[in-house]
Amino acid sequence: MPQIVLDVQNVTKRLTVGEVSVDALKGVTLSVQRGEFVAVVGPSGSGKSTLLGLMGGLDTPTSGTIAIDGVDITHMTERELTRIRNEKIGFVFQSFNLIPTLTALENVALPIQFSRHPTAKSAHKRGQELLALLGMSDRLHHRPSQLSGGQQQRVAIARALANHPPLLLADEPTGNLDSASSKIVMDAFRSIQRDMNTTVIIVTHDMNIAHQAERIVTIVDGMIANDAYREIR
Ligand SMILES: Nc1ncnc2c1ncn2[C@@H]1O[C@H](COP(=O)(O)OP(=O)(O)O)[C@@H](O)[C@H]1O
Ligand SMILES: [Mg+2]
Repeated sequence: MPQIVLDVQNVTKRLTVGEVSVDALKGVTLSVQRGEFVAVVGPSGSGKSTLLGLMGGLDTPTSGTIAIDGVDITHMTERELTRIRNEKIGFVFQSFNLIPTLTALENVALPIQFSRHPTAKSAHKRGQELLALLGMSDRLHHRPSQLSGGQQQRVAIARALANHPPLLLADEPTGNLDSASSKIVMDAFRSIQRDMNTTVIIVTHDMNIAHQAERIVTIVDGMIANDAYREIR
């Protein structure tokens, strides 16, 4: 039976700055199964990042519910959300967000060391395995400044996978990359989805990138305008 990893039901989000309020999401319903590869597309300001942040428990909705792996996170405390984020979700950002003073391997091993049953040895082993999966075995001891953008993003993806999350969320992961590096990064997402059965959800405004996903969800003005599966060749 298909397992629903993410269930978003009728979610709204009102953001207020000073006296101005914006309804960033106006009733979004979306469910995603284990192992799906989804691209969320839409114009700038349509609510994509807001939705991704809610899916990842970085923020809570104004109304509606969000469940991750069958657990409703809507009314969790910050402490409970932190635990869900650590155990269930990997995040990848446009700007990589690696720690500049640490090597590639140290960056990947760091979240493993913060997990519940870490040992330094197992963290390093797991880090090496993940970097190998992403084709980065020959860059383990390089620092971010010694790596290309595409290589840095692959380190960031390895780090996001460090604690085996069922759900990997990425906001414009190729936004700072040239087309060759973008392709390498998208191939990395695909192999993760295939080899680890991880659910991957990427936000992008680039349709060439979106077309590499199996399913494309289009957001316009805070609402889902289209939700379609691509034909797989
Ligand atoms: N922290 C915030 N405070 C107030 N308004 C915000 C905030 N973040 C985003 N918005 C507004 O919410 C809407 C959706 O933004 P966002 O989710 O960032 O869109 P996208 O990622 O699709 O470009 C926009 O109108 C944006 O200006
Ligand atoms: Mg955005």
